[in-house]
Amino acid sequence: MSTPATTNPSRFGFASHLFCRECGATSELGATHVCAECFGPLEVGYDLPPLTTAAIEAGPPNIWRYASLLPVPPDVATAPSTEPGCTRLVRADHLARELGMGTLWVKDERANPTHSFKDRVVAVALAAAVEMGYKVLACPSTGNLANAVAAAAARAGVRSVVLIPADLEQQKIAATAIYGGTMVAVDGTYDDVNRLASELADEREDWAFVNVNVRPYYAEGSKTIGFEIAEQLGWRLPAQIVVPVASGAQLVKIDKAFRELISLGLVADTPYRVFGAQASGCAPVAAAFRAGHDVVQPVRPSTIAKSLAIGNPADGPYVLDVVRRTGGRVADVSDPEVVSAMRLLAVTEGIFGETAAGVTLGVLRRLLADGLLDPGAETVIINSGDGLKTLDALADGAADGDSAPAPIRPTLAAFRAFEDSLAAPDSP
Ligand SMILES: Cc1ncc(COP(=O)(O)O)c(C=O)c1O
Ligand SMILES: [Zn+2]
Repeated sequence: MSTPATTNPSRFGFASHLFCRECGATSELGATHVCAECFGPLEVGYDLPPLTTAAIEAGPPNIWRYASLLPVPPDVATAPSTEPGCTRLVRADHLARELGMGTLWVKDERANPTHSFKDRVVAVALAAAVEMGYKVLACPSTGNLANAVAAAAARAGVRSVVLIPADLEQQKIAATAIYGGTMVAVDGTYDDVNRLASELADEREDWAFVNVNVRPYYAEGSKTIGFEIAEQLGWRLPAQIVVPVASGAQLVKIDKAFRELISLGLVADTPYRVFGAQASGCAPVAAAFRAGHDVVQPVRPSTIAKSLAIGNPADGPYVLDVVRRTGGRVADVSDPEVVSAMRLLAVTEGIFGETAAGVTLGVLRRLLADGLLDPGAETVIINSGDGLKTLDALADGAADGDSAPAPIRPTLAAFRAFEDSLAAPDSP
C-alpha cells in the first residue's frame, strides 16, 4: 500500500478518522483505502462542528462552500481547482406534466467544468492527494472521470495518467486528450481497466488513483450533490430521488449528505426514498435488488450507457443498503428506452443529457408505470453528464429526427417547399 508521506490529520478539516464500512475498525486519516483488519473499504468519519446555513451560504459559489463537511484543508478554496458545483436545480414542469407527476426537479450536472458530476469527486480527491504528498493524479475511467482528472491536473499543474477502455466514445477521448496528460487506452472492459489500476496503485507509490487508493476521500465529493439539492430546495429534503448507478458511490454519498444535514439540524428529518438507475445491459445491482440478495454478482457490460458500464460495482452492496433502508428500489431500462428518455428530457426541458441521464429518466418512467414511485411526491432526478459527449448513442438513427436535415437552397421558395414537406400537423 502506498504511503508517500506522513500526513497531518488537521489538514483534512473536520474529518477525524477513517473507518471500515464492513467491521467498523477505525484508523488514522492517511493514504489507505482498505481495512487492515478485514480488507473492507474505508470511509471518512468526521468530528463536525456546529454549522449554520448562513455560514454555508456565505461561502464561495462552488463545492468549497461545503468544505467543512469534506476531508479537505480549511483553505482549500484558495488552491487552484476547477471549482465545480453550484449547478442548477431545474424545475421540470413540462416533463412532470408529460409523466403525470406533481413536482419534479432535474439536478443538471452539465454545468460543471468538464460537464459531469465527476469534477466534484476529483476536486476533493486532488485536494486530499496533495495533502498526502502524492505527485501524480490518475484513474481508471468509464470516460467522464478521465475528463475531470485530466482537467483538474492541468489546472493544478500536476501530471495526470488516465486509463480507459479502448471502445470509449470519441467525444470523451477528445475531451481528455485536449488537457495534455497521459491517456492509456486498454483493450478490455472497465473492470479490466480497474484491475490494472489497482495493480499499478500498489506499485507506483506517488500516484493517486482517485477512485482506487484515494477512494475514501474522492467519494465524499458526491455528497455535495446532496448538499446542493437541499440548499436549493430552501434547506429541506425531497421525498424521492432517482440516481444513476455505476460503482454506486454517487447514490450512497447523496444519502450520506442527507443524513449529515439532518444530524447537524440544517434540514428537518423528513422521510425520503432513494432509487437507483441502471441500464439493462449492465444491471448487476438491479438484479441483486430484485433477487433480494445482499451481494452483487458481477456481469459483463453491453450497453450504450458506457459511463455506467461497471460490471463489478464497488459500492453495489451499499446501494442495496440505502435503497432498502429508505424504501426505494434499483431498476433498469433497455438501450432504446435510454435514447427515448434522452429525447424526452431534451424536448420537454431543453436539457441534452448523456446516456446516463437517459438511464435515470428511463427508470423514473418505468417506476411510475409500475406504480413503484409516487407521482404526487416531490422528486429529484440527476442528470449527471452532457449529451454532447455521447453523440454515438443518437447517430445510428435509433432516435427519429436526430439526424441533420437535408440542406435547402437559400431562397424563400425553397423554404416554403421545405415547410410544405414537414409532416408535423401543427406546422404553420
Ligand atoms: C455521467 C455519469 N453518471 C453517473 C455515474 C455513476 O457514478 P458512480 O460510479 O458514483 O455510481 C458515472 C460514473 O462514471 C457517470 O460518468
Ligand atoms: Zn474492516
